[in-house]
Amino acid sequence: MDLITWEDKLSVNIQSMDQEHKQLIGLINELHNAMRQGQGKLVLSSTLENLIRYTQTHFTNEEKLMQEMGYPNLKEHKKEHAALTKQVIDLQNRHEQGELVLTIEIMQFLKNWLTHHILNTDKKYGEFV
Ligand code: FEO
Repeated sequence: MDLITWEDKLSVNIQSMDQEHKQLIGLINELHNAMRQGQGKLVLSSTLENLIRYTQTHFTNEEKLMQEMGYPNLKEHKKEHAALTKQVIDLQNRHEQGELVLTIEIMQFLKNWLTHHILNTDKKYGEFV
């Protein structure tokens, strides 16, 4: 069962960004399912790595788009991206060092990590357009 389901309320009304957000949701669901199936550390590590890589790709694409549209809150948005990226990299480091076990609480954290950002921050550039 998926942890996050795409809903229309998550739409920022820009198709390319909605697609990328759907991809991120898919990667969090993949990690969630791997955790539920009791997959080994290797599988979890590589799934987490894919999530981080795609997060960085998405943030870069989104920042480029906001720059092109002359979005006035770009600087604050970039700061939030940097903080979000740090949070997942910290998780990854702790996981690699065996200090962190992926649990449903960690998955809930990732769910909120993404959905709060889309709902509270990303939607603002959607409204600006
Ligand atoms: Fe879609 Fe600002 O991340």
